Amino acid sequence: MAEKSKILIIGATGCIGKFIVEASAKHGHPTFALVRETTVTDPKKSQVIQNFNNLGVSLLYGDIYNHESLVNAIKQVDVVISTIGGTEIADQVKIIAAIKEVGTIKRFLPSEFGNDVDSMTAVEPASNLFGDKIKIRRLIESEGIPHTYVVSNGFAGNFLPTIGQLDATAPPRDKVVILGDGNRKAIFVKEEDIATYTIKAVDDPRTLNKILHIVPPANIVSFNELVSLWENKIGKTLEKTYILEEQFLKKIQDSPMPLKMFLAICHAIFVNGLTLKIDTSLGVEASEIFPEVKYITVDEYLNPFV
Ligand SMILES: NC(=O)c1ccc[n+]([C@@H]2O[C@H](COP(=O)([O-])OP(=O)(O)OC[C@H]3O[C@@H](n4cnc5c(N)ncnc54)[C@H](OP(=O)(O)O)[C@@H]3O)[C@@H](O)[C@H]2O)c1
Repeated sequence: MAEKSKILIIGATGCIGKFIVEASAKHGHPTFALVRETTVTDPKKSQVIQNFNNLGVSLLYGDIYNHESLVNAIKQVDVVISTIGGTEIADQVKIIAAIKEVGTIKRFLPSEFGNDVDSMTAVEPASNLFGDKIKIRRLIESEGIPHTYVVSNGFAGNFLPTIGQLDATAPPRDKVVILGDGNRKAIFVKEEDIATYTIKAVDDPRTLNKILHIVPPANIVSFNELVSLWENKIGKTLEKTYILEEQFLKKIQDSPMPLKMFLAICHAIFVNGLTLKIDTSLGVEASEIFPEVKYITVDEYLNPFV
């Protein structure tokens, strides 16, 4: 069997990064996590760091703004996955410069893990985030770096536990607010499944220089379908309020960050709409090429919340 690639995750302690580190180690890849020294001593991150230690992950101290630390880390691996957060997306030019300098990287997965930015329209601030991701895609391509763009769609954990109810900590029992008219399709994927598909893609020739779309068929649901699935589970009809275009845009405008960003992305999905058809010259669908992965369906995900 071919040796498993050595993988470096930059943004390892973040929301999606920690799942990718875990999946990498569990799939037998020698796994390296770039972490800032201040993060390792941060009590809020101690459990994540402890988990990395338990999994045998090698911690490398570094910072994307410290070129030498990036080059030293990248020299030790075959594959680089960036899961850096929204405010640092544009600064991945620094990772690209280090990858070019090292010259041996077999695959780079930039921080995407959302929508297919080349085919979406959005209002600010989401349009700015999508624009930064597009610029990084074009730079990777012009520099000739082997890559995969992971279009994971929505993180289930950010939406399903409250059925998308803002400021809620539990799913609705009486009333529900629906963003848009509720008819546009959205896609939700459990974070562990996103991480599994991502790691399976790194050494797979079918995903080289392609977009990996994670679109598990059972997880394509409209807001209305999601609410009705929930209503069936709790055996109750909820009172519905719809936030339509004008009110939606005003809500985005009046909200502070990071809610503003969340709402603008929701607007892009629930009002402008996703392109569900995959252009097979540019991308592949994860559950199709990795049918052995038993992903968690939206229906299954909701069960523990009943
Ligand atoms: N599809 C969805 O529903 C969804 C939801 C959220 C995010 N996303 C996307 O997922 C990607 C990752 O976002 P996220 O929310 O997981 O990010 P996040 O939680 O903000 O994590 C960012 C990571 O980057 C690290 N980091 C920040 N500055 C750094 C620096 N200068 N040098 C090295 N490391 C640094 C952070 O370290 P510390 O732990 O030290 O801060 C953290 O590990 C983004 O592209 C975002 O757009 C998608």
